[in-house]
Amino acid sequence: MMVGKSHLKPGKNLNFIAGTIFGLCIGVILSTWCRNKFLPCVPSFSRSGCCLETLETINDAGNIAEGAEKEISQNNVFIEEADEKGFLFVGIMTAQKYLDSRVVAAYQTWARSINGKVMFFSSEGSQSSYDIPIVSLKNVDDSYPPQKKSFSMLKYMSEHYLDKYEWFMRADDDIFIKGDKLEKFLRSINSSKPQFIGQAGVGTKEEIGLLSLGSTDNYCMGGTGMVLSRETLKLISPHLKYCVNNLYTTHEDVEIGRCVRKFAGIPCTWSFEMQRLFYQNFKEYKGSFVNTLLDKEVQTAITLHPIKMPTYQYRINNHFTSMRIKELRQKELELHREISAMNQVLNDKSKFDKYGMKPSINTFVPSSENEVIGWEFFNSKSVSSHLNVNPRKGLNAYRKHCVEEVLSQAMEIINENSRLKGDFKEVLYGYTSTDPLNGANYILDVLFTYRKLKGKNLNVPVTRHVYLHQSFTQTEFIESVWTSLKHNMITAESPHVFSHFRGNDENIIEDKLKETIHFILPLAGKVSEFERFMKIFEDICLSKKENCQIHIVLFTDNSSQEEVEDILNIVGIYQKKYGGHLLEVIEADGDFARAKALDLGAKQCSLNDLIFCVDVDIILTREALNRIRLNTIQGTMVYYPIVFSQYDPDVLCANQPKSNCNIDVLDFRSKMGYWRQFGYGIAAMYRSDLERVGGYDTSIHGWGKEDVALFENIVQSNLTVFRAIDAGMVHAYHPVKCDTNLEPSQFQMCIGSKATCLASQYHLAEMVLKIDSILNRNLDVKV
Ligand SMILES: *[C@@H]1O[C@H](CO)[C@@H](O)[C@H](O)[C@H]1NC(C)=O
Ligand SMILES: *[C@@H]1O[C@H](CO)[C@@H](O)[C@H](O)[C@H]1NC(C)=O
Ligand SMILES: *[C@@H]1O[C@H](CO)[C@@H](O)[C@H](O)[C@H]1NC(C)=O
Repeated sequence: MMVGKSHLKPGKNLNFIAGTIFGLCIGVILSTWCRNKFLPCVPSFSRSGCCLETLETINDAGNIAEGAEKEISQNNVFIEEADEKGFLFVGIMTAQKYLDSRVVAAYQTWARSINGKVMFFSSEGSQSSYDIPIVSLKNVDDSYPPQKKSFSMLKYMSEHYLDKYEWFMRADDDIFIKGDKLEKFLRSINSSKPQFIGQAGVGTKEEIGLLSLGSTDNYCMGGTGMVLSRETLKLISPHLKYCVNNLYTTHEDVEIGRCVRKFAGIPCTWSFEMQRLFYQNFKEYKGSFVNTLLDKEVQTAITLHPIKMPTYQYRINNHFTSMRIKELRQKELELHREISAMNQVLNDKSKFDKYGMKPSINTFVPSSENEVIGWEFFNSKSVSSHLNVNPRKGLNAYRKHCVEEVLSQAMEIINENSRLKGDFKEVLYGYTSTDPLNGANYILDVLFTYRKLKGKNLNVPVTRHVYLHQSFTQTEFIESVWTSLKHNMITAESPHVFSHFRGNDENIIEDKLKETIHFILPLAGKVSEFERFMKIFEDICLSKKENCQIHIVLFTDNSSQEEVEDILNIVGIYQKKYGGHLLEVIEADGDFARAKALDLGAKQCSLNDLIFCVDVDIILTREALNRIRLNTIQGTMVYYPIVFSQYDPDVLCANQPKSNCNIDVLDFRSKMGYWRQFGYGIAAMYRSDLERVGGYDTSIHGWGKEDVALFENIVQSNLTVFRAIDAGMVHAYHPVKCDTNLEPSQFQMCIGSKATCLASQYHLAEMVLKIDSILNRNLDVKV
């Protein structure tokens, strides 16, 4: 256990925290495994909670929370036994125009967390194309203000469910409810008494006096949701008709408040606490919670309002679900630790459990210099790292996010046990290292502020060293089924949606997997490369009866007569073997231009054909074919794979005889090559989409710029670019020849590409360092 050193700035009396911040332990999920680098968090996973899964202190804080947890689960058991008696009925007021958007999002996200029933109330004749419990209320339209809808909903609830549920909630369709928190909260309240719970309002300044409320009257604000006990609903239900016929204002929530006041005899809860639990987002315009998701208020709230965009519902749901996963993982880790501790007591060394080890940043003890794991230094702006070729780099947003997220969690745990509550402010600087077997470690210098209970300066800044250890848990992955993005509100961030629609999509997916891919291959000379390419094409397509066709665009002017003959011969052999319709050669004249070639090739296809622009140097695996098919959606998405570019085999094998040097094409270590992050030449899309963005710019000659131009056009359009590394596409090494006649900008690109193709900078540095004369020269200089 490590004890944090504290550097107290002003203020005394803060010793109480000394000894509370120590080996916090955090588990981590790795969504992507990089063989060369082991990133502590990966930016591409889910935007909320990208990295930190669980967190704990080695003190007793956990036990308190666990106690509360136990109570809840016992109550759950009770509910199940009591059967018919449900706990909570949530009625959501909505309108026809939101049934296929907000309502779907609500139903698929927070509604699942409600212990009870959620129903959506809309106008007469409302219909949704989804299988969702919707009540279309008789004689109610979608006009605003929705007083009639609101009272009709209460009437419906009391008529159908009064005896079946303990609690009733009325909310809007742009709310997010944390079902588990709401349940925990309501279970602390006596539901046999009349209760009217929500965020109390008295109207805005201008409205005071105009709402016909008494001076001590209030109402529960509608947006953040209001909760009625069964007793309350029972008391007002005979009078709903009276209430709706005696409206004083156009505010539907004010009128419910008046009705409850008059017939149940209670106001909305006055407690200030309710403003935090039923949370209205005033900080962000449109209330998307984009920037405030990690805020303490948002964490403690029970309901969040407003969320106008359905996609944000999914995002928020993802966030809180991942928090829950973190908690569970933490528990799992604690159990492992307990088992380990017991085994130690029993002196049973045979049951060593890696996960049960005490968190420490010194778990791994290197036995030689090579094994030492380096630490990176970072501050608010940059990272200095031995892992980067350029030692200092700007700080990635995701790393910053990770560290901040873990610290705000750490504060929760620290605060749980302390009388004074502290807030995490910022990380001043820190060190991090990642040990692939044991986890990530952080040593951070952090600024906290503590609020004193009395005295002049209420906010005391405190800096402390915090030692954090993230334990890795087992790797898990989800393979999600391709989905058509026809429902715009469904995003990749809501994977559970996929299963909901899977029924419809299975056929689509099957058809997609049978789709013909039209390869377009620009070619000038390069007979041996072409031979290799055709062997692969035969191997993955022709001999496997995959649906592929290839359109070879051959620049005859830039190939010798012999080369043209050889190429046509090769094509002829395959045509004979597999049928002429699968392979065609289009002859192009004039200067070689990739843009022109792709344009000519695309013109051989129909608008609904899936085309794949490829190069003769690309090595493909069969798996890549289905990724090409599944990652393109006509009118919606184009696929830009990032291919792996091999380094020069001669350099890789520089120190050993060639016969011993076997290079595996699918060896993706950083020593062997690099991912072409900036290559846009390989692309798959429908011809109709290519046409829509204006096709290839055929005025560009030679090499390089035409694909960037097209990519930019696609980015500008409403098509989605799907870009990801594809572990089935490798660019074989070939020496780059840069034509001095190229335009200067193209020539520069070519030279740059040539240099990066040779070998990794580490490898080159190693080679240089082995040259004695260079090292000796350095010695000479020193002497
Ligand atoms: C809840 O309220 C009812 C009615 O006022 C009362 O009879 C009951 O004792 C209360 N229960 C608790 C646990 O306070
Ligand atoms: C390619 O063909 C064009 C047109 O015939 C010619 O001008 C050019 O020099 C050729 N380039 C090469 C590299 O052969
Ligand atoms: C994209 O824009 C085109 C017009 O350029 C339009 O026809 C098409 O419907 C749009 N697609 C989407 C998904 O908005």
